[in-house]
Amino acid sequence: MEENKYLIKPDSKVAAFRSKNKVDIIYSSLIIPNELIDIARNKKYTVRTFGCQANERDGEIISGILEKIGYSKANSLEESDVIILNTCAIRENANERVFGEIGHLRVLKRNNPDLVFALCGCMAQQETTISKILSTNNQVDLIFGTHNISNLPDLLYQAYLSKEKIVQVYSKEGEVYEDLPSVRDSKTKAWVNIMYGCDKFCTYCVVPYTRGKERSRLKEDIIKEVNELVREGYQEITLLGQNVNAYGNDLNLGYNFEDLLKEVAKTNIPRIRFTTSHPWNFTKGMIEAIRDYPNIMPYVHLPLQSGDDEILKRMGRRYTFKEYLELYNLIRSTIPNVAITTDIIVGFPNESDEAFENTMKIVDECKYDGAYTFIFSPRPGTPAYLMKDEISSQTKSKRLERLIEATKKYAKLRNVEQEGKILKVLVDGPSKRNPDILSGYSEENKLVNFKGNPNSIGKIVKVKILKGKAFTLEGVQVDE
Ligand code: SAH
Ligand code: SF4
Ligand code: F3S
Repeated sequence: MEENKYLIKPDSKVAAFRSKNKVDIIYSSLIIPNELIDIARNKKYTVRTFGCQANERDGEIISGILEKIGYSKANSLEESDVIILNTCAIRENANERVFGEIGHLRVLKRNNPDLVFALCGCMAQQETTISKILSTNNQVDLIFGTHNISNLPDLLYQAYLSKEKIVQVYSKEGEVYEDLPSVRDSKTKAWVNIMYGCDKFCTYCVVPYTRGKERSRLKEDIIKEVNELVREGYQEITLLGQNVNAYGNDLNLGYNFEDLLKEVAKTNIPRIRFTTSHPWNFTKGMIEAIRDYPNIMPYVHLPLQSGDDEILKRMGRRYTFKEYLELYNLIRSTIPNVAITTDIIVGFPNESDEAFENTMKIVDECKYDGAYTFIFSPRPGTPAYLMKDEISSQTKSKRLERLIEATKKYAKLRNVEQEGKILKVLVDGPSKRNPDILSGYSEENKLVNFKGNPNSIGKIVKVKILKGKAFTLEGVQVDE
């Protein structure tokens, strides 16, 4: 019997597989059924994205495909004819938020029975989530996976034709798609994928299963995209990958992330950022490139996860705390005024008091500019899900509280160090809290609120820093 291509559910065993096969690069693949173009006329869409920057970029591509079909962006959920939730599965609370959202949408569906409601992103790649949605949530019309985005026009058309739910979630290593349309969220800052997927398989993490294997875009395609962004007047790009240091490994061309960074810098885009860089395989050459090219921003996100060797080993992180510290210190001593932030997980299965104290020691030593801190969330299908854990949730919460307090203290300390300096700020717009104040990010990726000229929005200006707080800097523009 032939498989029904509109009822393909995720398969975690297949998702965990890695081959050495060469990755296909697919150009200009979008096919839009004419009937769908008729349906889409005068119809509106909303894409709501959760999770990381890779997902944000996927959201922009999904919007691009919908606009290419003929939909236009809705101003509210109520006026939407198509609603797409682009989800994240990294922690259980991310999943819960999406289930909450699905609940709210029930009302919309009641008021507008023609509404097509779709779910995609990393939650779609998870067996447990999909069986739950299929058995309980009848308002979902379409589910598609992270490898199925280019099929969206056909899937959407099928959703209009069929009374059944349309499900198409491939579990595979994946390809590289080029030339998909996109609608970028910002006119000044852009995400640029340089690679997809992850092969690190940290034991707590769903990403290698939801995103497929590490696969790099060709440098020619990346540089072409960056040059277009320069022409369009973009001020900043962020090169995206789950682990950008692995860029190029799969292509075997002897061309790595350091080479790419330098070549991107030569396009003269005013600002280059990248995320995320794993401490493993972070080379001296990368650090020197950040130092030597003024348009590569002096900011590194360097996830620690834990400061304890036994936990790091069980997490599968591939470095010891000593190696981490060496790298950290090299970055600090090589790049002037660099800012470094991190991610830390507390309460990994059977994390002892001593292990937690080891993490606190590294935090005390590194005095990060900022930290994203999480309580370990067991993810079905990952090795850590099955690890024995006898640590109570109260203990974990207390640890998190202590960690947050410490990281806040150091963030403030680092920000106070900026007082009196003149920093370059790319102005995003009026501050969220006070319309008379402008806000933007410094080269060091610090959020700066300042008094300045409203005509500076979208430009890079000089701001004298008057006050450093835990999460923001305050200042005044000095080059109006
Ligand atoms: N590719 C990035 C991480 C992406 S996920 C990297 O390797 O740095 C972002 C962060 O979420 C991770 O750094 C980790 O701190 C956290 N995270 C991932 N899985 C988690 C889990 N199961 N529980 C709690 N935090 C988790
Ligand atoms: Fe997850 Fe580790 Fe890959 Fe980061 S490097 S995405 S934490 S598996
Ligand atoms: Fe979430 Fe998937 Fe990104 S799990 S963090 S959206 S890769």
